[in-house]
Amino acid sequence: MTRSPDQPGPLGAPGPHESAARHVTGLARYVDDLPEPRGLLHGYVVGSPHAHARIVRAEPGDALAAPGCAAVLFARDVPGENQVGAVVHDEPLLAEGEVHAEGQVIALVLADSWDAARRAASRLDLAFDPLPALLDLPEAIARGSFLTGPHVMARGDVEAALAAADLVLEGEVESGGQDHFYLETHATLAVPEEGGTLTLQSSTQHPSEVQAKVAEVLGIARHRVVVEVPRLGGGFGGKETQAATFACLAALGARRTGRPVKVWLNRDQDMVLTGRRHPFLTRYRAGFDRDGRLLGLDARVYADGGWASDLSRAICDRALFHLDNAYHVPTLRFEGRVVRTHHASNTAFRGFGGPQGMLVIETVIERAAARLGLDPLDVRHRNLYGDPPRDVTPYGQEVGRLPLGRMLEELAASSGYARRRSAIDDWNRGSVVSKRGIAFQPVKFGISFTATFLNQAGALVLVYADGSVQLNHGGTEMGQGLHTKMLAVCAHEIGVPVSAIRAMTTSTGKVPNTSATAASSGSDLNGQAVKEACAGIRERMRGVAAGLLGLDAEDAAALRFEDGRVHLPGRPGVEVPFARVASAAWLQQVSLAQAGFYRTPGLHYDAAAGRGHPFYYFACGCAVTEVEVSGLTGETRVLRADLLHDVGASLAPGIDLGQVEGAFVQGLGWLTTEELVWDRDGRLLTHSPSTYKIPAIGDVPRDFRVTLLPRSAQEGTIHGSKAVGEPPFMLAISVVSAIRHAVAAFGPAGVDVPLRIPCTPEAVLRAIESVRAAPHAVEADSAVLQPQAGARAG
Ligand code: MTE
Ligand code: MOS
Repeated sequence: MTRSPDQPGPLGAPGPHESAARHVTGLARYVDDLPEPRGLLHGYVVGSPHAHARIVRAEPGDALAAPGCAAVLFARDVPGENQVGAVVHDEPLLAEGEVHAEGQVIALVLADSWDAARRAASRLDLAFDPLPALLDLPEAIARGSFLTGPHVMARGDVEAALAAADLVLEGEVESGGQDHFYLETHATLAVPEEGGTLTLQSSTQHPSEVQAKVAEVLGIARHRVVVEVPRLGGGFGGKETQAATFACLAALGARRTGRPVKVWLNRDQDMVLTGRRHPFLTRYRAGFDRDGRLLGLDARVYADGGWASDLSRAICDRALFHLDNAYHVPTLRFEGRVVRTHHASNTAFRGFGGPQGMLVIETVIERAAARLGLDPLDVRHRNLYGDPPRDVTPYGQEVGRLPLGRMLEELAASSGYARRRSAIDDWNRGSVVSKRGIAFQPVKFGISFTATFLNQAGALVLVYADGSVQLNHGGTEMGQGLHTKMLAVCAHEIGVPVSAIRAMTTSTGKVPNTSATAASSGSDLNGQAVKEACAGIRERMRGVAAGLLGLDAEDAAALRFEDGRVHLPGRPGVEVPFARVASAAWLQQVSLAQAGFYRTPGLHYDAAAGRGHPFYYFACGCAVTEVEVSGLTGETRVLRADLLHDVGASLAPGIDLGQVEGAFVQGLGWLTTEELVWDRDGRLLTHSPSTYKIPAIGDVPRDFRVTLLPRSAQEGTIHGSKAVGEPPFMLAISVVSAIRHAVAAFGPAGVDVPLRIPCTPEAVLRAIESVRAAPHAVEADSAVLQPQAGARAG
């Protein structure tokens, strides 16, 4: 079998994304590209102009007199529950009484075109009584504005460890929000069908939740609602819960008017109305011995949840689960809380709190290394998870055998870290205007939904009598290559070429009660379900093939399904085409349809105790990144990045390389260029690409070397593969560390580099000014180098 260059490869072989050719030729259809049904109404979503206000009046005004306007819907028009909160029911679909954030949805205006709807919206009669808004995270903490109680993990006597430490650091780490900036903004098309049923085409990572929320909002049972997802033009977590709002609005419009309704956001609306990555503030105290060994870490972690809960609790939890990153923390107390502010309700974003947690310990390690005069790589190495008993996480899960030590050594060698670091130090001595920096960074990321029950998936495989196959699974394709991987798994299991299989539009009508495609677990979970479904079909077809070939039971058991045929190894000629077996199965009344199901075994977590086994395994990666910083402008260039990432035995190495590269660049954006700015009244000023800078092609490392760790098959996963979607995002923290190294070179040795995140040119310039002004041989503001261990003992 030959395969055309735009066909995805078989299992483990390089090859393009299953839709690559359609992506680049514009033939790939997204929700807004679907043919528009007759009578379609377009919905314009009207959001609050205030961050916090009492709604005095919300009436159609003369909007209905505007050309093309068909209806205006408010909260009072919701027939069922006016609620879309994913976990906690604290998020009305349409505002009632009060608005709690700019952009909180108040009304839906329906008209013949999107422009007509927008014009009609300007004629609504809305009146507000503005109220004071809590917009500042530290202020909200001080005022006790919380969405959750504290989640605590503790081990050992951290106070005693700090008291005995040679170096105690105290400080804060802040990180900012991030807009998802998927290329496709939120969109749903809702079509009313016979008998009060409804079909939706939605750009959602979570079709089953959209189905459930639509049913609740309309007050009907879920079986009346089918949600289909052709593909997403990116989700990145932003369409895990928040697509439900726009889908419910479309469904509500369709129900009230009896006509198909499309709800679509333009870029500015999408940026204002929807939640983003959570800004975090962490207050910490950390103790080290003089060799840089971490002795204790006390961290209070605050996540800015915005006005409603969404997934904030789980995101704050994941930050705690990743405060250790790749390091053994002998004594600790971690406490996490979600803060309520009057910002848009923040939501999932690649890494899901993990990046915010890891940034804390990486910052602490950098500070300690500078203070102790050590190479940060050595400090990192010294604290890396190792052998028992140094391999138990703060929540009591053994990390097992991690490849981190081997990866550190391999990457440090292949990137020439030590040689380049000393060359950079030389270069910096000779360079007045610009300085360079280099940093190494490991990542360990826990794989599984921490809400244990979510770790399940289903599939439905249909073989037709001509031997062609339709593959349904519960995951959604958002560019990450899930369909490509599932095609490869399916092709491998039933032994047909990928070209014989069609990945179907994800539908709640094919696989019910699915979890979001999230937590990087799409291929882990759905892959096992696809495998199981294929095994069922294959075993029935085995019997049919054995009959066709006249084989006994022993030979039948030895039959192999490969290359579009069923054959007996070692017996040339004893074979039959897969398609013939399929048609024979049909004639013999043997079922060629099979559902598959999977749930991850062995997971549990007790949040009250802060202990358990929440992750099936850990995905690891390492980065060595070199930057150059201009002392005149504060601008930063990533000169080179070497990434070594562990994807286990890759299902699709081309896809995985793309995921690692893309995640790193997206992380770089979060940490260096993407800055959200609000005015004093809580209105987002950075709501378009002209004011909000995502990384562009020029921001990609000039020399970008990405390697997948060889010989790293993972036990108990689909074909030994590992999740890849989120973990490499955090490798970008190495960019911050490298910038810190470069900025430090502008001042005396051992000085703290107060680098604000994101490291925009302004932030870098401020940091440079601060280190330039630092006195030589600093005795730190908050750091205390305590007396010699010997002296203390005496
Ligand atoms: N890659 C692309 N191209 N587009 C996306 O939206 N989302 C990321 C990651 N990679 C995303 C992506 C996020 S947040 C997650 S959780 C995973 O993909 C989800 O898909 P997976 O579980 O199949 O890896
Ligand atoms: Mo990803 S943030 O889990 O959708």
